Amino acid sequence: MKINILTLFPEMFNGFKSESIIRRAIEGEFLKINVIDIRSFCHDKHKQADDLPFGGGAGMVLKPEPLFRALENTTGKVIYTSPQGKQFDQKMAINLSEEEEITIIAGHYEGIDERVVEEKVDFEISIGDFVLTGGELPAMVIADAIARLIPGVIKKDSYENDSFYNGLLDHPHYTRPAEYMGKAVPEVLLSGHHKNIDEWRLKQSLKRTLQRRPDILESREFTKLEKKLMKEIKEELCKK
Ligand SMILES: C[S@@+](CC[C@H](N)C(=O)[O-])C[C@H]1O[C@@H](n2cnc3c(N)ncnc32)[C@H](O)[C@@H]1O
Repeated sequence: MKINILTLFPEMFNGFKSESIIRRAIEGEFLKINVIDIRSFCHDKHKQADDLPFGGGAGMVLKPEPLFRALENTTGKVIYTSPQGKQFDQKMAINLSEEEEITIIAGHYEGIDERVVEEKVDFEISIGDFVLTGGELPAMVIADAIARLIPGVIKKDSYENDSFYNGLLDHPHYTRPAEYMGKAVPEVLLSGHHKNIDEWRLKQSLKRTLQRRPDILESREFTKLEKKLMKEIKEELCKK
């Protein structure tokens, strides 16, 4: 998959591309991250990519011409990172990971000229109800969430058990030592009994989701086992 990122600050992506899973995904040719410097599409002497807003007021606005020109070299869906967009979630990451090529525009200052949004952007994505200085971090957040879902990048059973993938939060994790500072790892995890371990993990996922994000359980169609576990969880919680 190819992810183009249009930015005024391409160097911000150097660390992102050169570490851990993203680096391995690029080296393994599962992923190509093509960082495009918006300024290289500015044809004037000073490479001016932004200008004052019409109507006055604070801040600068990214000019339309360099963005239109840069987008001529891309194919696939165009996303604009914006606090006004639809809130990013795992479902969006899964859908986007199935695309061959996407382009993410990182805005800056007051944002980008609205004509780019009207003519070129397929949808706007927000990473939360707060305002950042630029779209570079949101672009990395979106690219990272997508990258780990591309087949071959990490093991399928690793991301399939992550929070939100199957509509539940993940269960707790433990590693060695089996006892630390007087706290022991739950016995079942040391038992080697895979059926019991799976059931314990499912129960913990259901419990966490019920306690932390009951909203995402509202539309869930529970299996027979999940119904039994939910009954146990509610009884246990009532006793406390
Ligand atoms: C200072 S913000 C502009 C905010 C804009 N004037 C507004 O109030 O909607 C500059 C850029 O940062 C990015 N940005 C800021 N907050 C964001 C968020 N929560 N999600 C996605 N992108 C964000 C966008 O690309 C935006 O164009």
